[in-house]
Amino acid sequence: MSAPPKTVLHASDAEAAAIRQAVRTADVAEPGPGRVRAGMEHVPGLLALLSDPQVSAPLYDLPRPITEDSVTRWVAEAQARALAGEGLLVVNLDPAGEVAGYSMITVWPERASAELAGAMRADLQGRGQGGSGAAHTFGWIFQRLGVRLMCLTAALDNVRSAKLIEAAGFRPMGEREAVRPDGTTRRSLYWEMTAEEWRRVHRL
Ligand SMILES: CC(C)(COP(=O)(O)OP(=O)(O)OC[C@H]1O[C@@H](n2cnc3c(N)ncnc32)[C@H](O)[C@@H]1OP(=O)(O)O)[C@@H](O)C(=O)NCCC(=O)NCCS
Repeated sequence: MSAPPKTVLHASDAEAAAIRQAVRTADVAEPGPGRVRAGMEHVPGLLALLSDPQVSAPLYDLPRPITEDSVTRWVAEAQARALAGEGLLVVNLDPAGEVAGYSMITVWPERASAELAGAMRADLQGRGQGGSGAAHTFGWIFQRLGVRLMCLTAALDNVRSAKLIEAAGFRPMGEREAVRPDGTTRRSLYWEMTAEEWRRVHRL
């Protein structure tokens, strides 16, 4: 399950309410074309995407086993979190309208913090798209959702993710025990970045 950052920020009631409202109303297409909020119509495409271990194996927080039922529940829970202003499941569609990737943004409004996880279809991996897409999404999460802190985790052997995350300016902060939905744990690399650090790195 997604865990909030190691660093604890405290949002005022007004700040937390503004973050919730931003999550509820955000236009998820802003960081790039082909992005939509996940709906039940995407379940078959997400099931096909996540059934490929090259896509889902590195992700600790996906439902297991990956079945039509578990993916349906996962989308429904994400829709409930979006209504509460506590997260967004964004589906990336390719030009043919097929599901080509997803981003799961988890938001803790009372801590002005967020986490991002996601994956791309195997045929699209390793072409530099993940790096540029993630950088846009990180900036959008800070600017549009208004959080002040982001955390990320990756499996210890996920070299591509680690490179992409550190290229974007995240600070390595050791490891953490990530808890899967079935209660088992996975040792993960762990990073954080503040909105201020993001603005400094990207000269905003
Ligand atoms: C992780 C993921 C989103 C990265 O996107 P991507 O488009 O494949 O990554 P990029 O092509 O932008 O590469 C990222 C970096 O890894 C490097 N890289 C790519 N393939 C590599 C490989 N096989 N070995 C080592 N480095 C590699 C790239 O050169 C790049 O580094 P650089 O910016 O210094 O050149 C994508 O691979 C993916 O969906 N993987 C499966 C799910 C996953 O791991 N999700 C993330 C969980 S934290």
